Amino acid sequence: MLNVALPKGRLGDKVYSLFASIGYECPSMNEDNRKLVFESTEKNVRYLLVKPSDVAIYVERGAADIGVVGKDTLLETTPDVYELLDLKLGKCSLAVAARNGWIDDVSAPLRVATKYPNVAQTYFATQNRQIEIIKLNGSIELAPILGLSDVIFDIVETGTTLRENNLSVYTTVAQSSARLIANKSSYQFKAGIIDDICRRIEERL
Ligand code: PRP
Repeated sequence: MLNVALPKGRLGDKVYSLFASIGYECPSMNEDNRKLVFESTEKNVRYLLVKPSDVAIYVERGAADIGVVGKDTLLETTPDVYELLDLKLGKCSLAVAARNGWIDDVSAPLRVATKYPNVAQTYFATQNRQIEIIKLNGSIELAPILGLSDVIFDIVETGTTLRENNLSVYTTVAQSSARLIANKSSYQFKAGIIDDICRRIEERL
């Protein structure tokens, strides 16, 4: 049985549709309930619905053999897993954003609100810019509006959240999309089925 960690939510739905379309369907996934584990003995696959930011932990520790996670999360947490494929889903960018018309005062450390402290530290170090990280867990856009930070370092997908809060992108730092990852020993011991999934996805993409 291959354990597949899917990110719960919109991206997970798209990824499951992709897996179903390449022959790894699991009919119980379409039931409207609060279950977190769905199994198809016929296809030899078990889907686990995991909080998106936890997928890499399940895969790194072998609780799941493979999983799907955003490149943004991989950059932030650098888990010890194999990155097998870019699924070209969930595309977004990692960007520095600020209030419209904001001007950087380079004489003071820049206060950066973010869910991505490690990626932000690395980026601003390359810019030789002194910063102070304010680690938040969501609604990052509030921080510059309330004066909690000068800028935010966050993902931008459609740009709607920025626009509707009178913020705009200052610099785009990296691109992100969903990646298929594998546990390192599962990749040896379950090579047959993992390779089959990769090959079919590549054909489909
Ligand atoms: C993410 C991100 C932005 C928003 C960007 O938040 O942190 O707030 O999506 O998307 P957009 O460019 O399409 O508007 P998420 O929805 O994950 O919620 P959160 O604020 O709880 O982190």
